[in-house]
Amino acid sequence: MHIDEAIRSRRAVKGYDPAFSLSREEKDELLQLAMLAPSAFNLQHVRLVEVSDPQLRAHIREVAWGQAQVTDASMLVVICAQLDSWEKNASRVWEGAPQEVQDYMAGAIDNYYRGKPQVQRDETMRSCGLMAQTLMLAARGKGLDSCPMDGFDFDAVAQLINLPENHVIGLMVAVGKQTVAPKPRVGKLSLDEVVIRDRF
Ligand SMILES: Cc1cc2nc3c(=O)[nH]c(=O)nc-3n(C[C@H](O)[C@H](O)[C@H](O)COP(=O)(O)O)c2cc1C
Repeated sequence: MHIDEAIRSRRAVKGYDPAFSLSREEKDELLQLAMLAPSAFNLQHVRLVEVSDPQLRAHIREVAWGQAQVTDASMLVVICAQLDSWEKNASRVWEGAPQEVQDYMAGAIDNYYRGKPQVQRDETMRSCGLMAQTLMLAARGKGLDSCPMDGFDFDAVAQLINLPENHVIGLMVAVGKQTVAPKPRVGKLSLDEVVIRDRF
């Protein structure tokens, strides 16, 4: 599928065929594609919790407004990120680069994040969003459907997946085969309203 068509035909699909399943290899291929999403300073702080345990899915659904896609979609991914990756992993992700690049990045990363909890959190959310969209477009490119979700109790889901203290949840993404085609898009704003030329 051409990338334009994948972007145009991606919709937030709510109804999935529970009988349709993706193999472990198919899921991993999608996750590998998602992992190619960009991350600031190449920190790669996103962690993808792929929930395949049906009981855990049922528990997550209970704290996600009962949304059917949580249990019925073939794949459910809780997209999380590590808040202190800038401090813990900065040198690891630049290993192999020339020494002067490693030294520069170490200083730049420290300067960007140290003592700035809002920046640290904002970065995780940016990266989770980019990873989610990359995953959804990768899925669409293979003829699959998806739904981004933040309609759930974040604390409850964190508890259910044993989220470490130094991680946050960005959103969840369901991927599978739709049973009912979504209604045509409504309320899309015009280019003129959304795009600002040079300045507000
Ligand atoms: C961050 C985020 C959270 C969302 N949460 C939910 C959700 O919990 N349940 C749901 O059915 N759709 C959810 N959506 C989907 C939106 O409702 C949907 O993207 C929007 O209505 C536009 O429709 P489209 O994606 O089909 O173009 C979410 C979308 C985003 C970006």
